[in-house]
Amino acid sequence: MALILGIDTSCDDTGVGIVDGDRVLANVVASQTALHQRYGGVMPEHASREHLAVIDEVVTTALTQAQVGLDDLEAVAATNGPGLVGALLVGLCYAKALAWARELPFFAIHHLEGHVASSTLAGGAQPPFLCLIASGGHTVLFDVPSWGDYRLLGRSRDDAAGEAFDKVARLLELGYPGGPALSALAESGDDRAIALPLPMKTQTGFDFSFSGLKTAVAVKLEKEPDIDRADMAASFERTVVESLVSVTVRAAKRFDRRRLVVAGGVAANRRLRRRFQELELDVNLPPVDLTTDNGAMIALAAAIRLVTGLSPAGTDWSTDAQPYLPLGTETLRRASS
Ligand code: KG4
Ligand code: ZN
Repeated sequence: MALILGIDTSCDDTGVGIVDGDRVLANVVASQTALHQRYGGVMPEHASREHLAVIDEVVTTALTQAQVGLDDLEAVAATNGPGLVGALLVGLCYAKALAWARELPFFAIHHLEGHVASSTLAGGAQPPFLCLIASGGHTVLFDVPSWGDYRLLGRSRDDAAGEAFDKVARLLELGYPGGPALSALAESGDDRAIALPLPMKTQTGFDFSFSGLKTAVAVKLEKEPDIDRADMAASFERTVVESLVSVTVRAAKRFDRRRLVVAGGVAANRRLRRRFQELELDVNLPPVDLTTDNGAMIALAAAIRLVTGLSPAGTDWSTDAQPYLPLGTETLRRASS
């Protein structure tokens, strides 16, 4: 087992985690929510500056929480993409400098692989598995026959699931970021009260689509301004979760996989967790505190790369921050293939 420090600064959270193999010793996240709230979304330039202002302190806090010193570290990892380029650069440069100065191996980690690691290592899940990642920036479904081999089965054709939660939350005047607030409001609503269209109902593939659903909510709200907001939140949430579950279950049948890994910020959603756990499949969800962006998941992914030999030490130094960075194969493995 190796003691690894991981950094994620892909968007608006400065995350630093320390793991010992698959054990999380520290997970510190400095949130920038208050800073971006007044804009109703993330301001990239502000995000980079804030990462720069706090990263040293977040690293120190993580070391204190883990009760280790810099001398104890055996490797350093950071997200190299995808994300906001200025934000990514802060964590990546910091991690590289730290690793270089301490003569430690450095691992560049794909942000989505970090999310996957938070759901697999925590539960000890091994490939082969199907992996659904639903976050603010992505909604993708992969078949993962072995570590590091991500075969894209489907993805959202428009908004990511988390993005849809955030946009509908805005329509319901729940502020930013809206996913958790919408989900809290949904608890008191009737999820069958309002009929909303299940996206991509007739497809034979494994794609998702959430922008039409968002528009359906907007149209209903315009036509019936006094409609019950909790009912709307619950009906919307149920429809998103049903879409994610039905496509994933269909893919599991099609590719004969019994193990599922569900990851990304939307995996914090209680209804989603409940629905997946009800399935008669081996379902692996991240612990709630590792669900949204954090540094521990990046360190966990590095631990997998170290153990499996996927990233031989010393090969990641030339990596730069990459705002657009696909994971695995870009070609969709269609149902007919
Ligand atoms: O993975 P993440 O932290 O950041 C990205 O990589 O995008 O995901 C953030 C997304 C946001 O869209 C947020 O609204 C959503 O996850 N989210 C939720 C919940 N908690 C976070 N969506 C629904 N229900 C929740 N409880
Ligand atoms: Zn994320």
